[in-house]
Amino acid sequence: MNVVTSKITPAADLTYTSDVERSTAHLYDKVKTVIPAIEWPVFAPMIARINELKKQKNAIILGHNYMTPEIFHCVADVTGDSLALARSASKTTADIIIMAGVEFMAETAKIMNPSKKVLIPNTGAGCTLAEAITAEDVRKLKAQYPGVPIVTYVNTSAEVKAESDICCTSANAAQIVEGLGVPRVIMLPDEYLALNTAKLVKTEIITWKGRCMVHEQFTPDDIRGMRANNPGVVVLAHPECSPEVVAECDYTGSTAGMIDYVAKHKPPKVVLVTECSMSDNVAAEYPELDFVRPCNLCPFMKKIELKNILHALETETHEVHVDPAIISRARVSVERMITGWKYGT
Ligand code: 13P
Ligand code: SF4
Repeated sequence: MNVVTSKITPAADLTYTSDVERSTAHLYDKVKTVIPAIEWPVFAPMIARINELKKQKNAIILGHNYMTPEIFHCVADVTGDSLALARSASKTTADIIIMAGVEFMAETAKIMNPSKKVLIPNTGAGCTLAEAITAEDVRKLKAQYPGVPIVTYVNTSAEVKAESDICCTSANAAQIVEGLGVPRVIMLPDEYLALNTAKLVKTEIITWKGRCMVHEQFTPDDIRGMRANNPGVVVLAHPECSPEVVAECDYTGSTAGMIDYVAKHKPPKVVLVTECSMSDNVAAEYPELDFVRPCNLCPFMKKIELKNILHALETETHEVHVDPAIISRARVSVERMITGWKYGT
């Protein structure tokens, strides 16, 4: 991904005045169970300024479910999983899209809406899955398996998407694979998502060796330990966890799938086997439920903070640029995912 950085403008006054306190009180109300009162005077002036700048500049903030609560609940205009954020990016009428998420999500937003200015608040927000495969790797696989469609997880670079037949997310992987109507597919780059999907479909799946550094750390023993220490706990896991971990859980789904499960079933005691901020964000909405908290942090997602969202809005950096030739090919793969596609049509 190419990014353009411009000069830093003078910082706004970020004093916690009584005006700021008043204008952000309704937002603190949403997060009061997960953000201590003593921390609010640091966040509130940035939140007030970000929300003001968004209006002035006709900007929209798309916030992934792994953002911290002050971002997720207080400045994001749209929140969701990778699929929901890609859909929102394609539809928005805002002039500027700020991706409060990682680089592949910002690139996907640019692919879906190339005329918009897409900004990523921190250029270090990568992903171990996106790093696990290159466009050259995909070209070699195509030569090795001619005629076998390539299903690529959105957690990849635009160049990798451009070499693929269709994209998928953790919310729709099985549906995309089955929809192709073929006996065999290659699924990149997450080995665990591919193995978990293979359990749900009749299609043979050839896997790659990518892993999410957050989800691969969970073990079946961790889950058994959670159950032993928390009788009756309902365990929800992301499909980037190993199949052995998934086998120990009550439900597996995308980040949005897990949130929907909690909203629908309201399990009195629940654990989300995924990135830590998800539990905080969902717990803020359901303070009556008991969230068991062993979790792992994604160091890439945590590079996005209020202070760099504010800086991105003030300076309109760091702008995401993707080669137009790559955009047009990558977009075919993402659009096929969104609209549905049968191989060879
Ligand atoms: P979702 O599409 O489920 O939000 O997952 C994205 C991600 O990066 C999970 O680690
Ligand atoms: Fe990538 Fe895993 Fe972080 Fe998601 S949680 S962005 S898959 S490293």
